[in-house]
Amino acid sequence: MATDFSLGNYLDTCRERVELALGERLPDADIMPQSLHAAMRYAVLGDGKRIRPVLVYAAGQALGVPPDQLDAPACAVELIHAYSLIHDDLPAMDDDELRRGRPTTHMAFGEATAVLAGDALQTLAFQVLCRDDSTPADAQTRLAMIDALAVASGSRGMVGGQALDLEAIGREIDLAQLESIHVHKTGALILASIRLGALVAAGAGTQQVRQLEHYAKAIGLAFQVQDDILDVVGDPDIIGKTQGKDAVADKPTYPALLGLGEAREKARELIQSAIDSLQDFDEKAEPLREIARYIIVRDR
Ligand code: IPE
Ligand code: IPE
Ligand code: MG
Ligand code: MG
Ligand code: MG
Repeated sequence: MATDFSLGNYLDTCRERVELALGERLPDADIMPQSLHAAMRYAVLGDGKRIRPVLVYAAGQALGVPPDQLDAPACAVELIHAYSLIHDDLPAMDDDELRRGRPTTHMAFGEATAVLAGDALQTLAFQVLCRDDSTPADAQTRLAMIDALAVASGSRGMVGGQALDLEAIGREIDLAQLESIHVHKTGALILASIRLGALVAAGAGTQQVRQLEHYAKAIGLAFQVQDDILDVVGDPDIIGKTQGKDAVADKPTYPALLGLGEAREKARELIQSAIDSLQDFDEKAEPLREIARYIIVRDR
C-alpha cells in the first residue's frame, strides 16, 4: 500500500525533538563540577542516530500516544545508551579513539572524567523517569518504566552482554553464543525502547504489546548484525568510528562467523520477521515498519 510517509522527515523530526529535550535535561556545563557536566553533554549531544528515542516515539505513535508525552522515556533510553558508549570505548573495553566522528569521551576529557560521566548519565536516566512531568505517566507506570529500563541496562541486559562480549575475545564461540551476546548488549535497550513507548500508552492490549516485543527483538538483533557488517565494509568518514576494529580485536561477529553474505541474509530475515509481526497494526505503525527497513540499509 502506497503512503506518503517519509522516513527521512520522520527521523529528522524525532532527532530534533529528542536533542532539544536532552539538552534541557542535562546539567549546564557551567554548573559545578564543570568538567563532568561538559563531558556528559559532549557524550550525549554528539552526532548520534538517536534510533532508540526514535523507537520510543514510533512505538508510542503506533498505539496513539503523541510525541510530547514520550520525551522523558526517549531521553532516558538515550542517556543509558550514551553512558554505554562512553564505557564501551574505554581502554579497558574496546579501546576506541573515535566516536560519532570525533574523539571519544575519554580522549577528550580523560578516563576518570569519562567513567564518572557514564555513571552520572546512568543515574540521570532514572531521575528523568522518576520526575519528569512532561509525561502523563502515573506513579505505577513510572515504576514499570524504571523497572523495564533497569533490567534492560543491567547484568541481565546490556551490561551482561558487554561482559560476554569481552569474555569472547579471541575465543571460538558458536552462533547461539554470539546471538546471546548481541541480544543482551544491544537488543535489550532496543526492546526497552519499544516497551517504554508502549507503557505510556495506558490502553495497549497484551497481544499488541507481544507483537511489538517480537518486532523489537528482531530489529534489535538485526541492528547489531548491521553494526558488525559496517565495521567490515563501512566508510570510516560516514560511520564516525574506526573501521575494522572488530577483526583487529579478534571479536566474534556475524560476518566473522557466517561471512558477509550470510550475515546480510540473516539481517534481512530478521527485518522481514519484524515487519510481519506488525500485520495487525494500522498505518500508525508505518514509522516502525520503515525504521525496520532502514536498520539494514543504513550506512552509519
Ligand atoms: C552503537 O550504537 C553501539 C551499538 C549498540 C551497536 P548506535 O549505532 O546506535 O550509535 P549512535 O548512537 O548512532 O552513535
Ligand atoms: C556496543 O557494541 C554495544 C554497547 C552496549 C555499547 P560495539 O562495541 O560493537 O559498538 P561500537 O561498534 O563500538 O559502536
Ligand atoms: Mg563493544
Ligand atoms: Mg565498541
Ligand atoms: Mg561495533
